[in-house]
Amino acid sequence: MDKQRRGVRPSAAPASPIPSFSLTQQIAGLRPELDAAWARVVDSGQFILGPEVAALEQEAASLVGGGVAAAAVANGSDALYLALSALGVGAGDEVITTPFTFFATAGSILRTGARPVFADINRDTFNLDTEGALARVTPRTRAVLPVHLFGLMADAATMARHFAVPIVEDAAQAILASRDGRAAGAVGALGCFSFFPTKNWGAFGDAGMVTGTDAALVDRVKMLARHGARRKYFHEAAGINSRLDALQAAILRVKLRHVAEWTTRRQELAARYTAAIAEAGLAEWVKPQAVPDGARHVYHQYTVRVKDRDRLAACLQTAGIGTTVYYPHALHLMPALAAAGGRLGDFPEAEQLTQEALSLPMFPELPPSAVDRVVDALASFYRGRQA
Ligand SMILES: Cc1ncc(COP(=O)(O)O)c(C=O)c1O
Repeated sequence: MDKQRRGVRPSAAPASPIPSFSLTQQIAGLRPELDAAWARVVDSGQFILGPEVAALEQEAASLVGGGVAAAAVANGSDALYLALSALGVGAGDEVITTPFTFFATAGSILRTGARPVFADINRDTFNLDTEGALARVTPRTRAVLPVHLFGLMADAATMARHFAVPIVEDAAQAILASRDGRAAGAVGALGCFSFFPTKNWGAFGDAGMVTGTDAALVDRVKMLARHGARRKYFHEAAGINSRLDALQAAILRVKLRHVAEWTTRRQELAARYTAAIAEAGLAEWVKPQAVPDGARHVYHQYTVRVKDRDRLAACLQTAGIGTTVYYPHALHLMPALAAAGGRLGDFPEAEQLTQEALSLPMFPELPPSAVDRVVDALASFYRGRQA
């Protein structure tokens, strides 16, 4: 006799956990293509640079669009350092950037010997505020380094019009993002991408890329990434080793065929989050990153500003829902950046967001029903609270 006929209710199956991020399903689906790609590299016997990397550069340039050329490099941090170096940024110079980003943005400025100069972020978009950045210009300003945070482009085109110095886009999180029809990586003098495995277009290790419409400048990046040599053993500048592996290039070429469709999935999930948050009457407690008119957000992260963030994150964790805090510290307060001379209170918007930002589960294979569960959990956390 089964349980139901004996009058015993089967116990409700516990809801399965919702990770903040997972690659498992994506990799399983790509396995035959990946197997063919790495077999091709192994059989070729060429493991660094070579035809796979050259093909990736061509294909990546087409994917970004806007008539850019591309230089593959070893990681996104090197992409930033090499872009600044190619533009001649060095000791004694200042580079204006945001304090609300991953360390590598400001770290790359330090590597050149220049000084990072921070300006505050816009409260709604979380990106570097153009007016605030303009107010930080000095005769030593040599470049501006906005970040397209979480996949939403900063206003790099307006910056390019107003600043007398080159704009370098930190597009590490923003492949296929655009603003007013202009692609991330094609607006500034140079654009820098990361292919860290968790990125929207990720390798199986470190990898990066620099793009730009000035082919000679992109070629200079390439030269600097190869020990300052354009031809073997003739070194014209003090470059570094930032060569890309053929295996990573081959994996990225497989994934390149799917990035557009994965991006659409992210955008659908984001639209569902935004609608469900509004419908649940959570506007007072949960504010999604604001998307300006004309911007195409690619949702590397779906990040919201929330009240009582740490208790909420713990509560979601108990309910089996993973979240991440990007970023818990503003860079002007980091010991590693003490040389920039920042103090608590200097950039109140960035400082406040470090207390309130929470990134909700987001990856293309996330089922829409998981989005509904996350928003239900948000609603039950805030239920009964007074604004
Ligand atoms: C905004 C931003 N800038 C720079 C980087 C550095 O890229 P990588 O980890 O490939 O060196 C990352 C990613 O990790 C990033 O998110």
